[in-house]
Amino acid sequence: MPQADATWSDPRLAGTRFRDVIWLPSVDSTNRYLLDRAAAGAPEGVVAVADEQTAGRGRLGRAWVAPPGASLLVSVLLRPLLPAERVHLVTLAAALAAIDALPDAGARVKWPNDVVVDDRKLAGVLAEADGAGAVVVGMGLNVRDDWFPADLRDIATAYAIDRRELLVAWLRAYDARLAAVDRVVHDATRRSATLGRRVRVDLGSEMFEGVASALTDEGYLVVDGRIVSAGDVVHLRPA
Ligand code: BTN
Repeated sequence: MPQADATWSDPRLAGTRFRDVIWLPSVDSTNRYLLDRAAAGAPEGVVAVADEQTAGRGRLGRAWVAPPGASLLVSVLLRPLLPAERVHLVTLAAALAAIDALPDAGARVKWPNDVVVDDRKLAGVLAEADGAGAVVVGMGLNVRDDWFPADLRDIATAYAIDRRELLVAWLRAYDARLAAVDRVVHDATRRSATLGRRVRVDLGSEMFEGVASALTDEGYLVVDGRIVSAGDVVHLRPA
């Protein structure tokens, strides 16, 4: 449980859907926290940020681990009016918004939802739907690298920035991206670290290799003509 809830605001968020920011010193998972809020009827636009997560969730059942203050840990509650097959676009939009928020970082989107710099992971996005219209989109973005254990040093990176400044820039960018969701596939194609690469796709039930060639209108990945809607992708060779 969080020790204390602090509501927080910034005038630069006026006019966006993200006005109510709850800043938590510690929580198990900001995604879990907002899914509970969603179940209690919270509206679109509520934001939860934590200094520390004790059970941060990653994709495919993995954990997101970072010491207090070393990552921006943020989740937003959305109630997207999109058909289910297009909901992936809101997660791609979150990754694009991170790129928008850090224009000089040289960041790109690694399909499906990672933000990478020179193939090292800067941020990960996890979207969780409650099956009743709410989608919680959470992002962890590293702002310090001094804590990386040996196994992360070659595959992760950080961008040194004040977390509050990053939060405001990301929320503003994400609000704009959600308002122009039809542009997401076009822009994610331009900013992709995956397209044109040889990749290994892990579907859980099956693994295969091929060249990632395009995104579909839903934001799914096309690899050797096969459409991959979910799974894990490893880049096999430098671009
Ligand atoms: C991944 O790369 O696997 C996705 C990581 C997502 C981590 C963020 S941190 C804030 C939010 N709360 C969570 O429990 N997970 C997401």
